[in-house]
Amino acid sequence: MTQPIPFKIIPLTIEDLPAAAAIETAAYATHPPQRDYQRELNSDLAHYLALRVLFTTLYDSPSDSSLAKLVGVAGFWLLADEIHVVTIAVEPHWKGLGLGEWLFIALLEAGQAAGGQIATLEVRPSNRSALSLYRKYGFEETGRRKAYYPDNEDALILTTPPLADPAYQAFLAAQKIELRQKLSKIEIDQFL
Ligand SMILES: CC(C)(COP(=O)(O)OP(=O)(O)OC[C@H]1O[C@@H](n2cnc3c(N)ncnc32)[C@H](O)[C@@H]1OP(=O)(O)O)[C@@H](O)C(=O)NCCC(=O)NCCS
Repeated sequence: MTQPIPFKIIPLTIEDLPAAAAIETAAYATHPPQRDYQRELNSDLAHYLALRVLFTTLYDSPSDSSLAKLVGVAGFWLLADEIHVVTIAVEPHWKGLGLGEWLFIALLEAGQAAGGQIATLEVRPSNRSALSLYRKYGFEETGRRKAYYPDNEDALILTTPPLADPAYQAFLAAQKIELRQKLSKIEIDQFL
């Protein structure tokens, strides 16, 4: 039996939009992305996920999301067979616990379920934590966009190998088992 964890990942809804925008503003240290979430949620190409924490009283009734707090958001566009990651952000108090990685795995799985075969994204060369996460998941540099960001920083273009590759799938499955164990040990009450 899989270990229960007090987190769940479900599609982002219209009701989540203010909280999702606030998380992005807080999470991105500089220059949070400007996003028309409302429009994105109405697009067939865009897919957004919400990471919620279930506080102790709700732990046994995870179907009730009304009191579950949004602590992370991730999104991708599916362009033909390419999963283009457009955002991943964890609320600053919840960073460094494994949640960004948990959300990222869910994004890759959702992208694959939607028909994606590889994943690609742009990232600032200065964004060490995100770069480290992406490299851990097999993303490699495949290009660079000069002065891509509004402050003129370049963007690195990173791309995965084919996600359906059995070795990659085995890697993802092993990471999920390890992470679930890690997340099951988080003492949620200390964040109340
Ligand atoms: C990137 C982000 C989502 C990671 O979420 P997180 O919950 O803090 O990360 P996790 O605890 O799940 O860590 C997963 C991996 O990310 C990397 N990472 C996370 N924090 C890091 C840090 N402070 N320094 C270096 N690497 C870090 C590591 O590879 C880590 O794996 P490890 O634990 O085996 O070392 C989060 O830092 C964030 O919201 N950043 C701001 C938004 C952003 O820049 N998004 C990316 C846009 S391209």
